[in-house]
Amino acid sequence: MSKAFKDRIIMVTGASDGIGSHVAAALGAAGASVIATGRNEDGLQETLERIEELGGRCLCVPFDLTDFESYGKLFLSLKDQIPHLDGLVHCAASIDRCTPMQYIKTEAFRESLDINLTAPNMLTQMMLPLLKRAESASVIFTSCDMVDEDQTNWHAYGMAKRALAYAAAMWQSEHEDKPYRFNTLNPGKVRTALFKRTYGGMHPKEVPAPGSVVPAYLYLLSDASKELRGQSLHARDLIKK
Ligand SMILES: NC(=O)c1ccc[n+]([C@@H]2O[C@H](COP(=O)([O-])OP(=O)(O)OC[C@H]3O[C@@H](n4cnc5c(N)ncnc54)[C@H](OP(=O)(O)O)[C@@H]3O)[C@@H](O)[C@H]2O)c1
Repeated sequence: MSKAFKDRIIMVTGASDGIGSHVAAALGAAGASVIATGRNEDGLQETLERIEELGGRCLCVPFDLTDFESYGKLFLSLKDQIPHLDGLVHCAASIDRCTPMQYIKTEAFRESLDINLTAPNMLTQMMLPLLKRAESASVIFTSCDMVDEDQTNWHAYGMAKRALAYAAAMWQSEHEDKPYRFNTLNPGKVRTALFKRTYGGMHPKEVPAPGSVVPAYLYLLSDASKELRGQSLHARDLIKK
């Protein structure tokens, strides 16, 4: 296995399950030191064991991304352990079920915006000093098909995901000539717990396994994609490269 990410330090949110856990494992196998976050400690432990089996290194950081008051503490604990951050991959997201806008409750709507929109932006803000210390760095916000399709019933989740494309563009234009970059990546439909909860009408076997989109994340984290800045991208277009 090539060690293309040797000496790189990359944080992955949502690393306890689904796409995030597969991205974290692949990065570990490719030589990166992975900082894996999520709430479920058993899930994080599985990711750590997978990475170690593949000969990689992983630091598990159990953390609830909606606990915004603890972001400062998270930064302070990391800045003493790592010199810089070469990548930040936002995979954490949450949606219980699809609901038409006319029925969604205020509290559920706000909670959805917290994890799907506020958290990736505020975590990026908090980690910016560490991203600035890297020679070059790549931040990936994970979007979904609603980034450019007007699908029904996805309420705040869909709105948040569409807003992430704007977030990446805005972050980039506020840091135009810097060696760090921000992009949004739509993985497309992938067989995970989130997919099974939301796409009731589709059999999971009809969609690809989470490992299939990993090469797109790795490409976007690598220097080979350094021209991609502030863009909204789809995994299938990057995997072709
Ligand atoms: N699967 C698809 O078909 C699909 C399609 C388009 C886009 N996406 C996007 O791809 C990304 C990964 O999704 P997935 O399908 O892999 O989902 P998943 O299997 O449900 O994983 C979601 C991850 O988010 C973490 N998470 C949720 N709430 C959190 C919180 N409050 N604090 C910290 N971590 C939290 C979960 O960890 P804990 O429970 O341990 O906290 C879990 O690791 C998401 O951004 C999703 O929107 C997925």
